[in-house]
Amino acid sequence: MNVVIVYAHPYDGSFCKGLLDTVSSRLQSRGANVKVKDLVKMNFDPVMRPDDLKATKTKVYSDEVKQEQADVLWADAIVTIAPVWFAAMPGFMKAYFDKVFITGFAYDHTGVGKLQGKRVFSLFTNGVNDPFLEMSRQYDAIHYVMDCLFGMTGFIDVATKFFASVPTVTDEQRKQYLAEAVEFVDQIFDRQPGEIGQKGHCALLTKLVVKGYLNGAV
Ligand SMILES: Cc1cc2nc3c(=O)[nH]c(=O)nc-3n(C[C@H](O)[C@H](O)[C@H](O)COP(=O)(O)O)c2cc1C
Repeated sequence: MNVVIVYAHPYDGSFCKGLLDTVSSRLQSRGANVKVKDLVKMNFDPVMRPDDLKATKTKVYSDEVKQEQADVLWADAIVTIAPVWFAAMPGFMKAYFDKVFITGFAYDHTGVGKLQGKRVFSLFTNGVNDPFLEMSRQYDAIHYVMDCLFGMTGFIDVATKFFASVPTVTDEQRKQYLAEAVEFVDQIFDRQPGEIGQKGHCALLTKLVVKGYLNGAV
């Protein structure tokens, strides 16, 4: 089992770093080959440069993007770890996926994602709790993006877990959160590919649009 962990947090004292350490050692102890993408330490360039975007047509990628794409192809599963910032993954994590999963590499206009059969397991930390998160539709906001990003590109499982009120909970609660993170990533080994599925319908809708069912062509 090959797993790429995409990690987006600027400093080591964070709870996200605790999740990274716990999850990567758990995955390795269960036999996975793990590559960690610490976007800040790697200094991953989050800017979509002209040549990066032209790659949708030229398929000429920067060395940095090419390396990440090779690792994505190598991976059976991707794990993401990040804080929620303004109801979203941090901009520099989104930028990683915009650049690496670019049109022509991760999906194209056939409506069939090019990363078929892969799985993604995402861990997000929150500063606040319900009912704020639910009522302000922060879960929905993240689920929509995950559904489009991974649904359009062919992933068959898109699993997401949130950890509420991280800065203010007790140490005991944080330990409990780490135990839940272990259970969450254990699904990579303990559940069949496709068993979790997706929360939205982006994969299906993309196919229907491309075939003309939803845009008047049929
Ligand atoms: C710019 C910014 C925006 C934030 N927006 C949200 C938000 O929309 N929802 C939320 O629950 N927490 C929000 N937070 C709080 C962080 O999610 C929280 O501090 C973090 O998840 C704690 O985990 P850490 O110790 O790993 O940083 C925000 C924090 C920052 C810096």
